[in-house]
Amino acid sequence: MLHHLTHSSSMKIPPKGKTPLSLAIIIIAVIALMSATFTEDLRVLTGTSTFKAKAAAAASSSSSTSTSTSTSVERDVSSRETSEAVVDEEDKIEFKRKKCSTTKGKWVFNSSKEMPYTDESCPYLDKQLVCQRNGRPDDKYLYWEWELDDCTLPRFNVENVLQKLRGKRLMFVGDSLQRAQWQSFVCLIQAHIPPKRKLIKRNEANCWFKAKDYNATIEFYWTPFIVESNTDKYIVPDPNKRILRVDSISAHAQSWVGVDILVFSTYTWWHSFVNGEEGYDELDRRIAYRLGIKTWANWIDSFINPNTTRVFFATMSLDWGREDGIQCYNETMPVARRGFSGSGTDMEMMQAVTDVVERMKVPVTVLNVTQLTNHRIDAHVSVYTQLDGKVLSDEQKKNPHRYADCIHWCLPGVPDIWNQLLYAYL
Ligand SMILES: *[C@@H]1O[C@H](CO)[C@@H](O)[C@H](O)[C@H]1NC(C)=O
Ligand SMILES: *[C@@H]1O[C@H](CO)[C@@H](O)[C@H](O)[C@H]1NC(C)=O
Ligand SMILES: *[C@@H]1O[C@H](CO)[C@@H](O)[C@H](O)[C@H]1NC(C)=O
Ligand SMILES: *[C@@H]1O[C@H](CO)[C@@H](O)[C@H](O)[C@H]1NC(C)=O
Ligand SMILES: *[C@@H]1O[C@H](CO)[C@@H](O)[C@H](O)[C@H]1NC(C)=O
Repeated sequence: MLHHLTHSSSMKIPPKGKTPLSLAIIIIAVIALMSATFTEDLRVLTGTSTFKAKAAAAASSSSSTSTSTSTSVERDVSSRETSEAVVDEEDKIEFKRKKCSTTKGKWVFNSSKEMPYTDESCPYLDKQLVCQRNGRPDDKYLYWEWELDDCTLPRFNVENVLQKLRGKRLMFVGDSLQRAQWQSFVCLIQAHIPPKRKLIKRNEANCWFKAKDYNATIEFYWTPFIVESNTDKYIVPDPNKRILRVDSISAHAQSWVGVDILVFSTYTWWHSFVNGEEGYDELDRRIAYRLGIKTWANWIDSFINPNTTRVFFATMSLDWGREDGIQCYNETMPVARRGFSGSGTDMEMMQAVTDVVERMKVPVTVLNVTQLTNHRIDAHVSVYTQLDGKVLSDEQKKNPHRYADCIHWCLPGVPDIWNQLLYAYL
């Protein structure tokens, strides 16, 4: 499991801020990209079974070093808090990009919330993410809405979205979390388009949905680090053998030229490198991340015309597996405590995004989903996922340490809210 892996990687970080976790960086390198099969199944990040053994050892040896002990205290899941917060909707202003913060708000339970789609009604969802179909017994996690403190977050309006996308290409670029956001976006709109008026193509790393009457396409481009790596086309199972080229991006970037709206995100995979290899420069994960983001920013500033292209960068979503692989297991309620920020968010990496984006020539809208997503411990796939095309067995479900996925989100679910934010900014 990826979460085992990430969890063990972070476990190796000493508590006092030392950062021995390193990445292998090739500055000058020729990587022969084998034309091999692509899989977006992040489970391949697991590496080998020996790695799992290490993960377990690391977990037991460092249980006192992390902040995980505080989590249960912080999680004050009181329904009182949510019902008390009766906000006077009259006082709120209509959403305006410059005036409204999408990070200041809270999750509100709405039992009459309309489901824009279900995992039965939308045919485009990955099997690993369809929690209800995979047997998740509770469904409360579907009914939470993100409510802003000072503004009204507009509801995702399909007709409006399609009008805005008329004659345009929207592309999500990143890892499997971005792929989920792409799926969510497509599912949010597809029911409104008659069968013969839409097209979908999913091949390997690229997905593509077209609403013919609007000449609008919604695409996904797989590149887990955004910058180039040797694990882009063919996923290298052993994290020790993954090599990143933090200064190279053009192999991917050529596919972004001409796209009207670009939505980038990268985070989780940056935890999946364990060691550098001899002969290559080794860099700390956070430094490497900053360099990678800078490479991306330079490309955007050099090749994107802000008059014709909108650029978004979505911040990371919390990985609930980071401390203890099963933190999302059995959870059915969001963390209600205001301003809650789980320890799975690397604030230094977050700061790198802020710093780099601030200095860019091309204006980039940051979709800051981190804070709101951090609350949603209840909305992960957990054990309601699939492995090798099969729903987990009861036996496997009882072994969350090994099988719970606390990185990915159920669909429908949290990625729909990310798209609601994106919609607000479009
Ligand atoms: C709950 O959802 C319904 C249907 O979308 C909506 O009409 C209603 O305003 C929502 N309630 C609140 C309190 O937001
Ligand atoms: C459809 O949109 C694409 C850009 O996404 C544009 O290049 C093309 O000319 C458009 N076609 C029509 C018929 O408007
Ligand atoms: C964008 O538009 C402005 C105003 O119309 C113009 O001055 C500027 O040169 C344009 N920039 C590019 C890169 O085309
Ligand atoms: C998870 O929930 C099930 C069913 O409610 C319960 O039997 C089990 O003990 C719980 N496991 C943990 C680790 O909390
Ligand atoms: C996102 O919002 C959080 C607070 O909610 C803030 O700490 C963080 O700096 C923001 N990140 C970016 C990149 O704007």
